[in-house]
Amino acid sequence: MTTTIITLTSLSLLLLFHPLLTQSQPGRTNPPSPATQGQWRLLQSNLGISPMHMQLLHNNKVVMFDRTDSGRSNLTFSDGRCRFDPDDTQLQIDCTAHSVLYDVTTNKIRPLTIQTDTWCSSGAVLPNGTLLQTGGFHDGDHVVRMFTPRSSLLSYVDGDDNNNNDWVEYPDYLNRRRWYATNQILPDGRVIIVGGRRQYNYEFYPSDSKLYWLDFLRETRDGRNENNLYPFVHLLPDGNLFIFSNTRSILFDYDGNRVLTEFPEIPGGDPRNYPSSGSSVLLPLVENATAPSSIEVVEVMVCGGAPQGAVRSARAGEFARAISSCGRLRVSDRNPNWEMETMPLERVMGDMLLLPTGDVIVINGAGRGTAGWENGREPVTTPVIYRPSAPQIWRFSVMAASPTARMYHSSAILLGDGRILVGGSNPHVFYNFTGVLYPTELKLDAFSPPYLSPAYDPVRPRIVGVRAAAAVRGYGEEIRVSFCVTRYLTRSAVSVRIVAPSFTTHSFAMNQRMVVLRIVDVKQKASDMYTVTVVGPSTAEIAPPGYYMMFVVHAGIPSSCIWIKLQPR
Ligand SMILES: *[C@@H]1O[C@H](CO)[C@@H](O)[C@H](O)[C@H]1NC(C)=O
Ligand SMILES: *[C@@H]1O[C@H](CO)[C@@H](O)[C@H](O)[C@H]1NC(C)=O
Ligand SMILES: *[C@@H]1O[C@H](CO)[C@@H](O)[C@H](O)[C@H]1NC(C)=O
Ligand SMILES: *[C@@H]1O[C@H](CO)[C@@H](O)[C@H](O)[C@H]1NC(C)=O
Repeated sequence: MTTTIITLTSLSLLLLFHPLLTQSQPGRTNPPSPATQGQWRLLQSNLGISPMHMQLLHNNKVVMFDRTDSGRSNLTFSDGRCRFDPDDTQLQIDCTAHSVLYDVTTNKIRPLTIQTDTWCSSGAVLPNGTLLQTGGFHDGDHVVRMFTPRSSLLSYVDGDDNNNNDWVEYPDYLNRRRWYATNQILPDGRVIIVGGRRQYNYEFYPSDSKLYWLDFLRETRDGRNENNLYPFVHLLPDGNLFIFSNTRSILFDYDGNRVLTEFPEIPGGDPRNYPSSGSSVLLPLVENATAPSSIEVVEVMVCGGAPQGAVRSARAGEFARAISSCGRLRVSDRNPNWEMETMPLERVMGDMLLLPTGDVIVINGAGRGTAGWENGREPVTTPVIYRPSAPQIWRFSVMAASPTARMYHSSAILLGDGRILVGGSNPHVFYNFTGVLYPTELKLDAFSPPYLSPAYDPVRPRIVGVRAAAAVRGYGEEIRVSFCVTRYLTRSAVSVRIVAPSFTTHSFAMNQRMVVLRIVDVKQKASDMYTVTVVGPSTAEIAPPGYYMMFVVHAGIPSSCIWIKLQPR
């Protein structure tokens, strides 16, 4: 009797709140609850720094860093560590931290040491799990830095916060200064570093000592407005790069240094790159169920930004309304054309992130102005979630409002438990907490999308094991994942996805990608336990080597991830 009642209750909860059944419909407002609009939580009221760059590593720790030339941060080293920089314009002896390691599991912070300026730089995680960071400003603009996480998949050591692993810097490594450049991990494990302020070229890590020209970046520079910085770079399954700058985009063969195709200009003529910062994602790549190693549909999405001239007017104290349009370009089509859509809210400096469900969240940013010192107005505190494959009128839903304004120099990343970690916001040259419109933000927040609501617990899968969990995975190899779920629907409700964690800065999540894996079968093992067998990505062009978060999604509700490492055999 009791069992029956519980079953009915959870079933009716599902019917009431299930995202597949309750899309936000036009003219209808969802009852505001964590199950429909998600939930915000304060994790840290004083992180000590304002992290404009964030990267999750495979030991569930997040490397965060700011710039070093903003004067003192709010985190002083307790062990006498200091940075001596006679050329620093603010502080020549600086005993405060500008980088921290945040432990997602324990919610603890450890200060890290950077010696040279990391302002507006870029990064990528190497296939071996080490974070590669490139460039910055002043004394840091030619520097390459590495941070190696201590615990590995094979020997997971918890509480390694006592370890003293820290940044290692390699001065004068880069061929050119890289300030506002974009990084992308490549199929062979190299990293390409594209552009930067007045750099119409690219180079590689590890360096071959060469510089490669990319005139497209010069052509798309809009004078002093720029709008060609932090170009949106996505590695496509055919091995070429999609590069978007300002309003234009190309298919680029980086090895042959050739532009293969120029795509149509995004309609509307509005710039989308820094400082008119919109954002962009490569939509999930779905491995074909019947024809391995072919991805049928490859699609890039670009959302938000600021209109033509917005940079100039912001500098003059007039803050233009941000752009509400998004464009989707199916680059796998023979003659691709942008399909335009309208977000429920205008947004500049938003961050676009892929959720484990394959939906896209657009979070942070402002309703007016542009990126750059003091250039933004009207924080947009409500994220929106976009469902790429829903009927068009149901695609966008507006989430709960954050209590915190996240303006210029804020950032966001996906965590392994499905939350979105949000930090930063500092539109000032210094750390200013009073006497300014948008104080330097030291708070760290997490947004839990609706799928994390306990209302969905009956259908939530929980990964209980991966065959030889710690092992390295080759391409095209079978992976068996066991999961528990209280209320199993059907095989077609199950999917398995891998997500590359992003290096997020300045509204672009570099290296972010999702591959939906091919399912071989789903078998019931016990009353509430199932085993799904999937095939790893077909090629390194589809998923470059390295660490990925693997999620099981059931009925639109994701599990927490387990980390897998992809490595060519
Ligand atoms: C940061 O440090 C300054 C200077 O010590 C202090 O006035 C301020 O209250 C601190 N801010 C926060 C948010 O902790
Ligand atoms: C990964 O490779 C880099 C570059 O060769 C190296 O500096 C780093 O120590 C390696 N990390 C690990 C975990 O082996
Ligand atoms: C998989 O590929 C085959 C052959 O190219 C095609 O007919 C089929 O529609 C594809 N399926 C999906 C789900 O893309
Ligand atoms: C911001 O902080 C700097 C350095 O502490 C200070 O010189 C400046 O006056 C502050 N700006 C405002 C608007 O308070």
